[in-house]
Amino acid sequence: MPDARYEQGMARPEIDIGAGSRERKPVAERTTLLTGGAGFIGGHLARALLDTGRRVTVLDVRAYTPEARFAIGSGIDEIPFEVASIGDQARVLDVFRTHRPDEVVHAGMILDPAYLATNRSTAFQVNVGGVINLVEAMIAFGVPRLVNFSSIGVLPRVMYQPIDGNHPILLADSGPGTDFYGSTKAAAETMLFAYNQAFGFDFRTIRPSAVYGLGMNQYVGPIKAMVENAVRGQPAHFEFGGSHPRAYTHVRDIAGLVIAMLDAPDDADRIFYGSAGGPLVTTTEVAEVVRELVPGADVEIGEELSEAEKPVAALRGELSIENAHTQLGWEPQYGSIRDGIVQYIEQYRAFVGA
Ligand SMILES: NC(=O)c1ccc[n+]([C@@H]2O[C@H](COP(=O)([O-])OP(=O)(O)OC[C@H]3O[C@@H](n4cnc5c(N)ncnc54)[C@H](O)[C@@H]3O)[C@@H](O)[C@H]2O)c1
Repeated sequence: MPDARYEQGMARPEIDIGAGSRERKPVAERTTLLTGGAGFIGGHLARALLDTGRRVTVLDVRAYTPEARFAIGSGIDEIPFEVASIGDQARVLDVFRTHRPDEVVHAGMILDPAYLATNRSTAFQVNVGGVINLVEAMIAFGVPRLVNFSSIGVLPRVMYQPIDGNHPILLADSGPGTDFYGSTKAAAETMLFAYNQAFGFDFRTIRPSAVYGLGMNQYVGPIKAMVENAVRGQPAHFEFGGSHPRAYTHVRDIAGLVIAMLDAPDDADRIFYGSAGGPLVTTTEVAEVVRELVPGADVEIGEELSEAEKPVAALRGELSIENAHTQLGWEPQYGSIRDGIVQYIEQYRAFVGA
């Protein structure tokens, strides 16, 4: 097909990756390669993928966390598990050769912003190079579709609300607001568009926001300590942060959206926000919900923001899930934070009890 971008002396790539000619297998016959499957979102996602009838192969640098093990539950011992780094091209190719996946979900990356800033070459090799390694393996083995985990951390500041897939991630005076985390995510996102525009490579990117649920990590503020301490009968007191607003998203909604994205129509958008949509929720409101749901919970938070939190809170904005609704037919199951915290409390209780 003629393409104006390759006129004016630019060499059009001669590489045919076979995009467009591939039949997708029925869901029950597919093997999904899930990177980062030993972690928080990965564990819940593995469970949700198994529940669709898929086979799952996990690739991660570490063993399952106890919470991921619990979230996956029955069938976990039948999941092939490859201890491998997505930063190692040879190893990634080995995994593809062994398991011949039909689709890939890429959640395995380094999140710790301090680690990324102090280990900048590793940040690039894993968070950006890892995506390239996966895409090249997918091309080599004819694997048609990737869902890539990015983050709202790619956003520089709020230019309008609700923030949608057309919101800029680079401005004249600033880039992604979360330094090496957001910038490596943004770099990976742009490289996926390069593969798509040059070769027709098929991908979709999810940008989750403030994901909570059993096994959640510490980067989403006090909600984890509030819920888990309340269930264990321990206090959770915070001096600062009550007015910090977030677009909290239940981990099961992230899993449901990823599954919808794996079967997105060919003409669907490439970027979707992993959010419940609607107004932002403050940490003070989270504390109120926890106190209501766990009688006797000793949960308190001061309204003021700490100095460190002020610039981060300023990045928050309402997120649009309109394209997920209209193009994928997806709706969040936990549209209200209260419903999501009810599920988190129940599953955490069951986890502690086990
Ligand atoms: N949790 C959130 O609120 C949130 C928000 C936005 C985006 N995300 C994204 O979702 C994805 C999953 O995050 P999570 O919250 O489950 O965190 P997590 O740390 O629990 O999971 C990440 C997994 O990636 C694995 N990993 C790290 N380096 C790797 C490597 N070199 N090769 C293979 N695996 C590697 C880790 O061992 C871990 O199991 C990440 O890409 C993250 O950036 C999460």
